[in-house]
Amino acid sequence: MKVTVVGAGAVGASCAEYIAIKNFASEVVLLDIKEGYAEGKAMDLMQTASLNGFDTKITGSTNDYSKTANSDICVITSGIPRKPGMTREELIGINAGIVKTVSASLVEHSPNTILIVVSNPMDTMTYLAHKTTGLPKHKIIGMGGALDSARFKYRLAEALEAPISDVDGMVIGGHSDKGMVPLTSHATRNSIKVSEFLSKERLDQVKEDTKVGGATLTKLLGTSAWYAPGAAVSGLVQAIACDQKKMFPCSTLLDGEYGLSDLCIGVPVILGKNGIEKIVDVPLSDAEKQHLAESAEGVKKTNGLLEF
Ligand SMILES: NC(=O)c1ccc[n+]([C@@H]2O[C@H](COP(=O)([O-])OP(=O)(O)OC[C@H]3O[C@@H](n4cnc5c(N)ncnc54)[C@H](O)[C@@H]3O)[C@@H](O)[C@H]2O)c1
Repeated sequence: MKVTVVGAGAVGASCAEYIAIKNFASEVVLLDIKEGYAEGKAMDLMQTASLNGFDTKITGSTNDYSKTANSDICVITSGIPRKPGMTREELIGINAGIVKTVSASLVEHSPNTILIVVSNPMDTMTYLAHKTTGLPKHKIIGMGGALDSARFKYRLAEALEAPISDVDGMVIGGHSDKGMVPLTSHATRNSIKVSEFLSKERLDQVKEDTKVGGATLTKLLGTSAWYAPGAAVSGLVQAIACDQKKMFPCSTLLDGEYGLSDLCIGVPVILGKNGIEKIVDVPLSDAEKQHLAESAEGVKKTNGLLEF
C-alpha cells in the first residue's frame, strides 16, 4: 500500500504522521513544491519511527512526481490555508490552479489511484478534480465531513458532559461555515437521541459551534487547524487501504441522490478498497432537507467561479 500526500505543510505532515502511526501502509511519499521541505518533514517523521513503533517508510520529494508513481491513494493538501476572518471560498483563486496541476501530475504517474481532496474550498476542488482528471467518480473523494463530524461529536460531548466515546453524530452538506448540516435529528448518546438530554436551544448552540469549528481554531491559531484534519484524512485512507467498508460523510459527485446533481457535496458514503462503494441515503428532517438544499446552492455558486 503506497500513499502519496501532496503538500507537506501542517495538514499534509499531520496526515502522514497519523497514517504512519497506524502502521497499515508500507510507504508514504510526501511531496511539496518548496525545496527540501518534504524531504525534511519525511526525515523528521522517520526519526519518530523507533519511538512510536511503526514500520511505514516515509520519503520526501521536491516536486518530483516520478517518486509518487503507482500510488494506491493520493491525498491533495497543497494550497493556501485561510487566515483569521477569511472564508474557505476566498481561497479558490490560488488553490484551483494548484489542485488542477497537482491532480493532473498525480494521475499521470498513478492512473489507477484513488484521490482524496483536502484543499479548500474542498467541495469545489473535488468537483474540479472530477472535471479535469478523467478518474471515475468513485475514485475521487473530498474530505470535510469526517472532520466536521469529529468537531460535532466534540461539541455534543461538551454539551452532554459525556465522554466523546458515548456520542455519535454526523455532519453532511458543504464544508463551509454556512453549508454544514449537523444531523442533530440522528445524533445519539449510547443509541438514545441527544434531544432526550439537551434542550432545543442547547442543541442549536452545538450546531452553531460545530459550523464555525474551523473558524474558531483559525482565530486562535492564526492559521487553519491540522491535528484533527490530518487524523480525519488518515481515517479515510485507512478505510480504503484496509477495505473497512466504514461509513463517513464525504464529498462526492451526486447524480440525483438527495435530489441533487452535478456537484460534489458531503453525504454519507461507504469507503472500501474501491473508494466510494456506496452512497447511503438517510432520512432527513424537513429542516435538514431545506438546509442541505441551501448548502448545495452555495457550493454551486462557488463552482461557478471555476475556469476549466
Ligand atoms: N478539507 C478540510 O477539512 C481541511 C481542513 C484543514 C485544512 N484544509 C485545507 O488544506 C490546505 C492546506 O492547509 P495547511 O494548513 O496544511 O497549509 P500549509 O500552508 O501549512 O501547507 C500547504 C503546503 O502546500 C504546499 N504547496 C503549495 N503549492 C504546491 C504545489 N503546487 N505543489 C506541491 N505543494 C504545494 C506549500 O508549499 C505548503 O507546504 C488548505 O487549502 C486548507 O484550507 C482543508
